[in-house]
Amino acid sequence: MSTEKIVHEEKAQLDFSASMSYSDYLSLDSILNAQHPRSPAHDELLFIVQHQTSELWMKLMLHELRAAIRCIADDELASAFKMLARVSRIMEQLVHAWDVLATMTPPEYSAMRPYLGSSSGFQSWQYRCIEFALGNKNAAMLKPHAHRPELLAEVEAAWRSPSLYDEALRLLARRGLDIPADHLERDWTRPYEVSEGVEQAWLVAYRDPKNHWDIYQLGEELTDLEDAFRLWRFRHVTTVERVIGFKRGTGGTGGVSYLRKMLDVVLFPEIWKLRTDL
Ligand code: HEM
Repeated sequence: MSTEKIVHEEKAQLDFSASMSYSDYLSLDSILNAQHPRSPAHDELLFIVQHQTSELWMKLMLHELRAAIRCIADDELASAFKMLARVSRIMEQLVHAWDVLATMTPPEYSAMRPYLGSSSGFQSWQYRCIEFALGNKNAAMLKPHAHRPELLAEVEAAWRSPSLYDEALRLLARRGLDIPADHLERDWTRPYEVSEGVEQAWLVAYRDPKNHWDIYQLGEELTDLEDAFRLWRFRHVTTVERVIGFKRGTGGTGGVSYLRKMLDVVLFPEIWKLRTDL
């Protein structure tokens, strides 16, 4: 049967002069007209689409992360688990996305690099909100957004709020686990400090999962998330090395040297440490 006949027989709607179409609903006119290559290079469209799609996934990630943090604060763990699982899957999706960008060779990138000016993923405000929501607080990272007060306000709000891990520890305390007081109320803009007491609290759950099942599950959801985030960082730095080697980044850092240092960031330190001590 011809596809024309199938469409006719299935009675698909074909006239959208008076009703909402797919393109209307998804605002595709805005999205598909938002790619503006600045160079004559063929590969610049790949570069733009890869970044834009990453930003869209980050938008969803932030939406889920913020809601998961609220759910943990409200003791609604089942909902939080579902959202955190989604965040991990999005992160994995972004890990696989590097395969597409890795088809870009050094000469292809060099052809458009002069047109990128000083723009860099380093200035991604959504990425910084994600890092802050995951607890990697750093006041210096507010500065690139100072020229855009509305974006600065978003990043600042994430910087001032308790992170996912901070809320997880408050939940552990509400469940009767012994979390040190200075990890329950503190200046949330400060970087997280690893604590022996926090590790001991997690260990109570990990030594007796049956009696602390949802705390144990929370620990494993956080591990999944950080695991996926580490993979993303790793694929970023290896892709960058294969494309620009050890040249400086457009954002002004040493490039690979900076990104390698970021591989050492640990978001949920006690959850990793307890694996040795268990
Ligand atoms: C060939 C492609 C890419 C190259 C050569 C590249 C290079 C770099 C470099 C050198 C940095 C360090 C900051 C700087 O000095 O610029 C950086 C940071 C960053 N890039 Fe990329 N990048 C690429 C693709 C991407 C893509 C597709 C994304 C997705 C959104 C991305 C997101 C980021 C983020 C979020 C940072 C900040 C990381 C942090 O501060 O920990 N990059 N990139």
